[in-house]
Amino acid sequence: MALMDAILDVQALPLGIAVALGALLLWFIKAYVNDQRRKSSNLPPVPGVPGLPVIGNLLQLKEKKPHKTFAKWAKTYGPIYSIKTGANKMVVLNSNEVAKEAMVTRYSSISTRKLSKALTILTGGKSIVAMSDYDDFYKMAKRLILSSTLGTNAQKRHRGHRDILIENTYNQLHGSLNKNPLQAVNLREVFQSELFSLSLKQTLGKDVESIYVEELGTIFLKKEVLKVLVHDQMEGAIEVDWRDFFPFLKWIPNKSFEYKIQQMDVRRVAVMKALIKEPKECFESGRELNCYLDCLLSEAKTFTEKQILMLSWEAIIESSDTTLVVTEWAMYELAKNPENQDRLYRDIQNVCGPNKVTEENLSQLPYLSAIFHETLRKHSPVPIVPLRYVHEDTELGGYYIPAGTEIAINIYGCNNDKNVWENPEDWKPERFLDGEHDHMELHKTAAFGGGKRVCAGALQAMTISCMTIGRLVQEFEWVLADGEKDNVDTLGLTNQKLHPLQAIIKPRT
Ligand code: HEM
Ligand SMILES: *[C@@H]1O[C@H](CO)[C@@H](O)[C@H](O)[C@H]1NC(C)=O
Ligand SMILES: *[C@@H]1O[C@H](CO)[C@@H](O)[C@H](O)[C@H]1NC(C)=O
Repeated sequence: MALMDAILDVQALPLGIAVALGALLLWFIKAYVNDQRRKSSNLPPVPGVPGLPVIGNLLQLKEKKPHKTFAKWAKTYGPIYSIKTGANKMVVLNSNEVAKEAMVTRYSSISTRKLSKALTILTGGKSIVAMSDYDDFYKMAKRLILSSTLGTNAQKRHRGHRDILIENTYNQLHGSLNKNPLQAVNLREVFQSELFSLSLKQTLGKDVESIYVEELGTIFLKKEVLKVLVHDQMEGAIEVDWRDFFPFLKWIPNKSFEYKIQQMDVRRVAVMKALIKEPKECFESGRELNCYLDCLLSEAKTFTEKQILMLSWEAIIESSDTTLVVTEWAMYELAKNPENQDRLYRDIQNVCGPNKVTEENLSQLPYLSAIFHETLRKHSPVPIVPLRYVHEDTELGGYYIPAGTEIAINIYGCNNDKNVWENPEDWKPERFLDGEHDHMELHKTAAFGGGKRVCAGALQAMTISCMTIGRLVQEFEWVLADGEKDNVDTLGLTNQKLHPLQAIIKPRT
């Protein structure tokens, strides 16, 4: 009897049991509601890739090219299919149509990310624009990076930095040509360092040659700063992403991997702190540097110190990497295809005559834009959009998508879709000269994503890349070095050319 009393008298129950019972009840209700919702939605589930061919596709998996594997599966299973990733489901999108639906129409249900432990470290806990959820932090930071750096007006203010980048790139290539006309030039080394300088000027107000990093007790040369802020982080992100795409191979808690990622973060934070120190003092003493950091600091009440550091770092890494990827591939394709190179050269001659090509001239050079877009299509620098997470039940392509699904938008798949692009494997800039679209339009392919999260740096990437390609073809004739034609491997799961382009250049007469 005493027992019965105790059960009926909830207050007499130990708190732990009461909470557990409550949770159980909630769980039943939730499961029931979900079940009802699914029944009422009437939509079929996304077709799955049967019995995930772990063994059958082991070779592709080993290559670590998920964008290619996904595009290949799309040929059999259609533009939208699901793969099982342990407890979770991942839906892969491979056509413009379903990709657009996910990025625009259903965005409100697919606007968050679920990050692995390692990615959480690399993004400072979602403290960057590109990896944050759609929240107040995101909206504020996106507004600031556009108004200070990447928007149309900000890009006008930063014109001088771009002109210096183009001039320095030309001068250094000219210098190596004078030293040894028969030796292949290393465009990547020169261009990457110039892009990095530009990103430092736009973000922190000045370039650096070297810097004392107090927390690590050493001086870092610019090259080493580039390595810590860009190359090491890319390497870490690639390794992490890879595990996220195929979780059945997922890293079983691996101390040495975790340690490696943590060390990358420690070094990045130490170097960024050193870089920010001086411009911050400038700002505090009332001197403006006309840079992103200034803007972030004037909103210092909104952001924590760590967020300001991470946002500045983001602007640096994003400016330094993807623009290089597309420009290097464009020069590869032009050196490989002399007719296309000749056509571009003739266009530039017709428009500019004896004058150097300028940004004002770009609107007169549709073939140059076509080369840029065709290279973005064939060698999309971001082959798969960083995974998005479905936070409430929704639908895509007429299928039911339950909350908790991860979405992989395969940009590479969209840009190589046979239903949209004739002979997608060919590099053919002419395909963009149909006269149907404004050639200065930024979004001719899926390369920059779409919807609210469309790339914020598209204008900068296009301007810098087109100017570099235009000027380098105006000044030099480009020919691939021996053996370079088949050198088309890419780095890990990115589309960056694995080995730097080797090209022989000759001055135009
Ligand atoms: C050819 C070069 C580039 C390509 C192909 C590219 C591609 C992309 C893609 C696909 C996204 C969308 C990610 C998503 O939907 O989740 C993105 C976002 C973003 N990109 Fe780029 N990008 C390029 C250059 C740049 C540059 C130079 C910057 C300059 C800092 C930049 C800054 C950003 C930012 C801030 C976002 C986040 C936008 C948001 O979440 O609202 N990108 N980019
Ligand atoms: C752990 O991570 C390291 C470094 O990334 C890697 O070389 C090693 O193979 C991993 N070990 C296991 C068991 O996954
Ligand atoms: C090219 O740019 C220069 C300098 O910006 C300008 O003076 C010239 O008129 C432009 N030429 C054409 C054809 O747009």
